[in-house]
This record gives sequence, C-alpha cells and structure tokens, in this order.
Amino acid sequence: MIAIGLMSGTSLDGIDAALVEINPRGASYAFELIDFGTVPYDRETVDALKSIMPPNDGSTSAVAHMHHHVGELYAEAAARVAGTRKIDYAAMHGQTVYHDGERAITLQLGSPYFLRDRLHATVCFDFRSADCALGGHGAPLVPYVDSLLLTSPDEDRIAINIGGIANLTFLPRAATPEHAIAFDCGPGNMLIDAFLQERTANEKTFDEDGAIATRGTVDRAALDRMLADPYFFQVLPKSTGRERFGSQFLLAEHAAVMQALTLEDGAATLTELTAVTIADAVRQLAPAGCAVLVSGGGAYNTSLMKRLRERLSEYRVETTTDMDLRSDAKEAIAFALLGYETLRERPANLPRVTGASAQAVLGAIVPYEFDSLGRRVQAECAG
Ligand SMILES: Nc1ncnc2c1ncn2[C@@H]1O[C@H](COP(=O)(O)OP(=O)(O)OP(=O)(O)O)[C@@H](O)[C@H]1O
Ligand SMILES: [Mg+2]
Repeated sequence: MIAIGLMSGTSLDGIDAALVEINPRGASYAFELIDFGTVPYDRETVDALKSIMPPNDGSTSAVAHMHHHVGELYAEAAARVAGTRKIDYAAMHGQTVYHDGERAITLQLGSPYFLRDRLHATVCFDFRSADCALGGHGAPLVPYVDSLLLTSPDEDRIAINIGGIANLTFLPRAATPEHAIAFDCGPGNMLIDAFLQERTANEKTFDEDGAIATRGTVDRAALDRMLADPYFFQVLPKSTGRERFGSQFLLAEHAAVMQALTLEDGAATLTELTAVTIADAVRQLAPAGCAVLVSGGGAYNTSLMKRLRERLSEYRVETTTDMDLRSDAKEAIAFALLGYETLRERPANLPRVTGASAQAVLGAIVPYEFDSLGRRVQAECAG
C-alpha cells in the first residue's frame, strides 16, 4: 500500500509529509520511506495559529478560517511528496490548537477534504478524539507505533521524540504494545524556540545546531525554579503542550529570572531544562545500558544532544536513524501506520498510556473508492 503520513507538531515549524510503502507483517509492519518533505508554515500562518492558541483565545471565525487554511496546506504538503504517484490513502494528524489531556479535551484543525480532492485517495484523520471519548488524554499515540517498529527481542529500549514537547516510550525487550510505558516528559524545543523568538523579535525562530546555547552558561537558580514546576512531579498518565510550556511560562511565570539572563545564558538554561527532565525520566524507567533512541527536531540541536549524552553516560544514546527510522520523518511515518490501523479497524490507543477506559479504533475516514481499498486492506492483512 502506498500511503502518505502527515504531521504538524506543537513547534509550529511546518507540515511534515512522509511517502511510504507499507505492508502488514504479522502484528507489525514492513515499511519503506520513499520520500519525505516539510512545508514550513509562513510567518502569517504561525501568527494566525498562535492567535487562536493558549495563552490566547481565538474567535470562532478565526478557528474556522484556520481549519480551512491548514487543510489546504496539508493538501499542498502531500501533493509535493506524492508527485505523479498513485496514492492509496493518506493519514493526517492536523494542527493541535488546544490540548487539555487531563480533561480529555483536544482539538486538531485541518479540513481533510482538500487532501482527498488533491490526491484522489481516502483520508484518515482526527486520531485523538476516540481516545478522549473514553476519558483518555488522546495522547501520546506514537508509543504504539514505537512499540511495533522499535521493540527489540533482546534489549530494553527507550524512544524519545524531541519536538515542541519531549515524549518518551519505554519498550521492554520482546514486549507487546500494551506493555509500553509512555508519557510527555515536558518541554522539548518549545521553550528554547519561544525564548529566542521573543528576544530576537522573531529574527531567530530556533537555536540552529544549539550554537547559542553552546556559548552560554546555565543559570542554576533559574533552572531550579523551573524544575519545581508541578508537571514534573505529576503521576502518569500525563501529557502536555503549549498550554503549560508555551510563551507564558517564560513571559509570566518565570519572567523575572529569565529577563535577567543574556540570550546565550537563557538558551543554555532552557536547553539544560529539556536535557535534565528527559534524562530524569529515562533514569526513572530504564536500566543502565539500555538504548535511548532519539528522534524529532531536537536531535539536530548539538548542545541539547551533548547535555543529554552527558547526563545519560551509562546509556547508549543514538538516533532512530541509526535503526533505519529517519528521525525527522518518524512522526509522519507513525501517522501513516496509524492510518492503516484505522483502515483495518484495529485499536491503536494504549489505555495504560493515555488513561482511556478501553482500547479504541482511532480515526475518522473520508472515503474515496473505499470499497476496493477496504478489500485490498483485508487481503493484505489476511495474507
Ligand atoms: N538544526 C537544528 N538545530 C536546532 N534545533 C532544531 C534544528 N532543526 C530543528 N530543530 C528544532 O526542532 C523543532 C521542530 O521539531 P519537530 O518538527 O520534531 O517538532 P514538532 O513539529 O513540534 O512535532 P511534535 O511536537 O509532534 O513532536 C524546531 O522548532 C527547532 O526547535
Ligand atoms: Mg515539526
């Protein structure tokens, strides 16, 4: 099956599209990444999205407008990787604009119909709502895919995705998905990005290769203050987002300490916060020696990876690319696989991870020649 998985995360950097060939293999999948691309959000889109996201509160008309606009951008991102190829189905995450996991409320925007019309293919979307309807956080969902693709028969592993938020999946050796432990550890790149954007009036939107943080010194007092945030002490299940670790974390809650720091020291302190909270989460769960497989944009931040390696010196810190799972494409690939689970009607949430009361088939479907697609899925899964 030729599929496109589409993801735009909390960083608001853009829409990732992965063109993949997927084939079911027993309980798991064989897949090949054919092409991958990111369509960056332009400044206007980022500003419009931020205006409807916490700590802001958008009007109904602004939300409706962005639902339409993001839908068009998803279609554009998919069309670029599809080229002239015939696509069997696409699976889109949508743009999260609100997430309150504890109350089982989450919202992803992006009308899926533009995508169907552009690709002439069935589209799976709205992956989180089914879990929320069962009282779950609707997040994280990628641990299920981590479990299918990254579990090893002979070693414990930890998968860490450092996007806007950092999340972690512990995969005990030879375990099936329901044995995975996963949660959002806390900020990934989000605070570093927000700090630089504010200090440079958006001239810098992220700390490329961690160059600014590398030149700075960690301010211990500011770090300790931020490490006292109640989220880090919350029991599982837990998930988080821009609501907690957005710009207000820096501009309101920790304004006094952060404003006193230089650009370099502020970036170093926030990079250290991400590294320390990830490393603490790893130590809580995984025995020394186990493989720590990093993915997401944070894997490109040299300062962050150096700090993480220092704090996890008795672990093997690698990237998922080392395991043949390209680290920047991982989340988009994951949604392509979750789309297949929707089509074959196999539950893909992990109640132990999300807090839902039961397993659920995730996702809604916008059909296109759906009869024949359904028959092919059934044949592939039986074969
Ligand atoms: N070369 C780089 N150097 C430093 N940081 C980088 C680099 N490339 C990407 N990043 C960081 O990664 C972020 C984007 O990461 P990614 O796309 O994985 O996150 P996301 O879109 O928030 O997805 P999600 O939250 O779902 O994981 C950027 O905003 C930036 O902070
Ligand atoms: Mg992204």
